[in-house]
Amino acid sequence: MAVDKRITKEFDKLRAQKEYEILMMRYDSAIREVGTKLEILNSELALVSDESPISSIQTRRKKDASILEKLIRQGNEISLESIEANLNDVAGIRVICSFVDDIYEVARMLARQDDITVIMIKDYIKKPKPNGYRSYHMIVEVPVFFSNEKRPMRVEVQIRTVAMNFWASLEHQIKYKHDVKQAEKIGKDLKDCADTIANTDLRMQKIREALKAPEGSEFSNTTEGVLE
Ligand code: GTP
Ligand code: MG
Repeated sequence: MAVDKRITKEFDKLRAQKEYEILMMRYDSAIREVGTKLEILNSELALVSDESPISSIQTRRKKDASILEKLIRQGNEISLESIEANLNDVAGIRVICSFVDDIYEVARMLARQDDITVIMIKDYIKKPKPNGYRSYHMIVEVPVFFSNEKRPMRVEVQIRTVAMNFWASLEHQIKYKHDVKQAEKIGKDLKDCADTIANTDLRMQKIREALKAPEGSEFSNTTEGVLE
């Protein structure tokens, strides 16, 4: 998108301010707060259940150019107040889980912490996007303590399996290389891959359940159905 020169100038002025730097430092702090919460959950669960639900955590703060682009796209004014009020994804955390069930467990455990406020949930696993994208998205608010005040800060948490992450990463790369002529076929192929991946996730989940069930129980031989 060609960004209006006047707006670019206005944004450059904004981000040259100390207050902008401070706001970004606050988002970085919020990422650390939520990141630590997730790491603590994982450490405890690894000890208690011998299984780590989280296989990895990635964090990122939205780039200045993307902040400007989103403010313009949404028709919002260029100011610090506007960033805080209108952008939920300046602070971002991606949690990669082994199994689909782990996603919901991690989400539940984070949401029930009493200093976390869940602002919004988008469950693209139960309701995948038309292109096949799957992931569990939460916008949470976490209080961050600074020298003179406590600030509630928003963080976007995306929780997905290793398989969903594999698809989303490749789809993201491919999206920008679309040859218009092939776009439709590529889109269909990608959707197909997403569905295959979702089915594999489900089968892996069933295998885990079967292995967990005590010998001789009605679940102990349920791998039969999923190993075909
Ligand atoms: P954005 O303006 O893109 O942030 O979307 P949104 O505010 O409507 O939120 P949504 O929950 O739909 O998406 C937030 C983020 O999820 C995106 O910034 C991407 O990181 C990821 N995402 C959503 N849809 C897709 C998709 O189709 N493919 C990939 N690879 N990632 C996606
Ligand atoms: Mg985003």
